[in-house]
Amino acid sequence: MDEIEILLKQLTQAGGIPGHETEVRGLIQKHLGSLGEVTHDRLGSVICRKSGEAAEPRIMLAAHMDEIGFVVSHITKEGFIRFASVGGWWDQVLLAQRVVIKTAKGDVTGIIGARSPHLLSDEERRKLVERKDMYIDIGASSAEEVDKAGVRIADPVLPVSEFTILANGKTYLSKAFDDRGGCAVLLTVMRRLRDTAHANTLFAVATVQEEVGLRGARTSVRVVDPDVAIVLEGTAVSDVPGQSDDSHQVLRLGRGPIVTFYRGDMIPNHKLRDLLVDTAERGDVPVQIRADDRVRGGTDGAAIHLHGSGVPTIVVSLPVRYVHSHGGIMHRTDFDAEVELLVRLVQRLDQKAVSDLTAW
Ligand code: CO
Repeated sequence: MDEIEILLKQLTQAGGIPGHETEVRGLIQKHLGSLGEVTHDRLGSVICRKSGEAAEPRIMLAAHMDEIGFVVSHITKEGFIRFASVGGWWDQVLLAQRVVIKTAKGDVTGIIGARSPHLLSDEERRKLVERKDMYIDIGASSAEEVDKAGVRIADPVLPVSEFTILANGKTYLSKAFDDRGGCAVLLTVMRRLRDTAHANTLFAVATVQEEVGLRGARTSVRVVDPDVAIVLEGTAVSDVPGQSDDSHQVLRLGRGPIVTFYRGDMIPNHKLRDLLVDTAERGDVPVQIRADDRVRGGTDGAAIHLHGSGVPTIVVSLPVRYVHSHGGIMHRTDFDAEVELLVRLVQRLDQKAVSDLTAW
């Protein structure tokens, strides 16, 4: 594995459901510690300030560090564990998946279960199993055994999925590319800019609690008070069977980062958008442009661009297949292209370029 693969492995394997980001935060702080001055907001987002050749403008690069997961909601007399979702899960990707419960006594492994298909009637087998009928099985047979293992109500539960380099050597499989992929881009861009001139002050921000409502973005943006913001995300692509019709654009792995020109929660600053596209063209960096109101969920950009009297903001995303599941797939070409694009863009964001963004 090369440096980037090791970084992606570390970041995706670290635990960090919303409100329980301690493990992934520690890792990110370790990486950012050598690149700038690290502080926090009071929800736990990490903010790394790195001065360039000019104090102004203030540029915020933000990626969220939390991942979707669960918490223990109830323990049955027979020793099965009911769970509540933290973040947006699709019930169909849950059954038979391995999870780990983070208890005060240590990690407890379990599997998400439901009644075995052998025991269902033909009609029951045709129905989808709903999350409310699922449970986590840690191999216990009583509530006492679950208690003895250390499991308590509200303990966080994480998906288990090993980081794996796939058959072509260029695609990677793991949980949590949304948004540890964005975090890895953030750290790599900061590393690249350590020894490169940039006429601005950079704030690399790893936000908390994005998946439950952009909460760390709202608090960290007040600390940073940026003049311009670039949000680094991981987002779903549609280059899979059953999607390639003419009614919608098909976004693909390996064709470059996705730049969102329109979605329901945010319209990017148009001049920033044009500057980014021009930067991509000049640098021969591929990008995919998206305008789609069907995309569910918000991004930190929705909160950040409304800070103060408004912040010119754009969202740049790593394409990910099967986002919000145990097994996302991302492409190295997209990662490298996004890093290159952002390094070049940051170097162009000097005082004049940034004041031009809001010269109405
Ligand atoms: Co995300």
